[in-house]
Amino acid sequence: MRFLRASLMVVLLLVLSLTAVHAQDKKLTVGFAQTGSESGWRTAFTNAMKAEAEKEGIDLKFSDGQQKQEVQIAALRSFIAQQVDAILLAPIVETGWDAVLKEAQDANIPVILVDRGVSADPSLYVTRVAADFNHEGRLAAAWLAQATLGECNIVEIQGTVGSSAALDRMKGFGEVIALFPGMKIVATQVGDFTRDGGKKVMEGYIKSLDGLKDVCAIWAHNDDMLLGAIQALKEAGIKSGKDGIKTISVDGVCDMFKAMADGDASANVTLLPDLGPIAYQAVRDTLAGKPVEKRIVMPSPMNFPDTAAEQYAKCSAAS
Ligand code: AHR
Repeated sequence: MRFLRASLMVVLLLVLSLTAVHAQDKKLTVGFAQTGSESGWRTAFTNAMKAEAEKEGIDLKFSDGQQKQEVQIAALRSFIAQQVDAILLAPIVETGWDAVLKEAQDANIPVILVDRGVSADPSLYVTRVAADFNHEGRLAAAWLAQATLGECNIVEIQGTVGSSAALDRMKGFGEVIALFPGMKIVATQVGDFTRDGGKKVMEGYIKSLDGLKDVCAIWAHNDDMLLGAIQALKEAGIKSGKDGIKTISVDGVCDMFKAMADGDASANVTLLPDLGPIAYQAVRDTLAGKPVEKRIVMPSPMNFPDTAAEQYAKCSAAS
């Protein structure tokens, strides 16, 4: 009898340890609901997430949200139905996520936000891995304040309406310029984070603001919109950057380094696209029951024309 009990115990331990080994070796399946492909930064971010997943042996199920929240919500529901191990969500806008996040939670599938944030209750997601967009806006405004000694009429080009990237950057920038009575935003319009959107907004400003003769700076919520705006300025024979209207934008895409090296743009706040290693580690830690910080903030370095040629050589060789 004692022998039988001991044998059963050995078999049980063997089964348990084999299950543990299997759980460790099991390939992770992660669903990634991306906003779309509106900008150069977005493409770099998508590519970085895919490359890191491949490097780490993760089965990444990728969904392009095509700039539509309903497409992203459908992607999340499909990931839930497929019983993925975890979901990464880059939400296009802040609001309207509560119901689907609750569905993921009820299905015991952890959701990790990458890049933009949501207004939903934080208990509905594990963490958010992203830069601090408010800080980016503040950095942009602080640079402009010192470059203009606090005297500047600014035109703003906003990102997607309702996105945390646009809302927080706008707020951070506004908080800093409010400290300088001589700095004001004389026009603000939405360019949707696209090059075409930025070009159209700037063409409108050139017409409505008398060829921008009283405008001292352009603040664009991302590089693509600024690059489109610079194109519009060139077509109208208006100079920007070194010999003209100052510019400041966020992202650090390769073409922006070229624009700074060419003297067409003045300064840049860089949004690092390589969130993969941290996001996938957060997935692994969550699944292993380890604690994960509620907010993981990525740094926001600034770049200027003095190093732009070197940066451009590096990024163009890599692409
Ligand atoms: O959410 C981050 C922003 O989204 C980037 O600055 C912009 O390029 C993108 O479209």
